[in-house]
Amino acid sequence: MTKKSSEVPRLQGTRCVLRPLVPGDATSLQRHADDEAVSRNLFDGFPSPYTLEDAQGWCDTGCRSAAMGYVWGIEVEAQIVGCISVHPDDGWLRCNAEVGYWIGQRFWRRGITSEALALVTAWVWENLPEVTRLYAPILAWNDGSQAVARKCGYLKEAELQRSAIKDGRVIDRVQWASIRPEVRHLPRR
Ligand SMILES: CC(C)(COP(=O)(O)OP(=O)(O)OC[C@H]1O[C@@H](n2cnc3c(N)ncnc32)[C@H](O)[C@@H]1OP(=O)(O)O)[C@@H](O)C(=O)NCCC(=O)NCCS
Repeated sequence: MTKKSSEVPRLQGTRCVLRPLVPGDATSLQRHADDEAVSRNLFDGFPSPYTLEDAQGWCDTGCRSAAMGYVWGIEVEAQIVGCISVHPDDGWLRCNAEVGYWIGQRFWRRGITSEALALVTAWVWENLPEVTRLYAPILAWNDGSQAVARKCGYLKEAELQRSAIKDGRVIDRVQWASIRPEVRHLPRR
């Protein structure tokens, strides 16, 4: 599968717009990302504190690297306030793709992330024919993220006990997934 994040399309919602990040987004991205309430719910590699340099690296090239899959900035009120991404697995697992998302605290509980996840899920079914399963590994304490997944039709498929290390502590995760409504048979390669 080709992963070209530079080619992610603009997706228009009613609460937000999803679009590719550009270098000029670094300042607003950093302002919303540099928050313990955000980073405590994300994988251990998410910078905390989140510096302007981190944001510049992410907006300039980081988000476009093949290793990151497809990355959109979440735009609200003409500024980037979060990100959402889809990362297809490789080889014989390439029909699976991991979704991840976060949004700045000032914008929580306005239905923005659930709209973003619904837009991205529909885009994947329409545009990535090899992907048949989207999965979201979520830290077990994160009720908000699980509510977002549930609202978008994802189902809880697993409790992954002691499956990650966060800030030096072994923690539990849960996994939510959405399955492509209709499976097409794909040519062998
Ligand atoms: C979790 C997070 C993405 C939720 O985003 P959001 O834009 O506030 O979510 P929405 O407004 O779309 O809410 C969707 C549903 O979740 C519920 N919800 C949101 N935050 C919640 C919370 N902390 N606890 C319980 N439910 C919550 C909402 O009430 C809503 O349900 P409803 O429509 O039935 O009322 C956001 O809080 C965040 O970015 N947190 C930090 C990073 C993070 O956790 N990312 C996810 C990693 S897996």
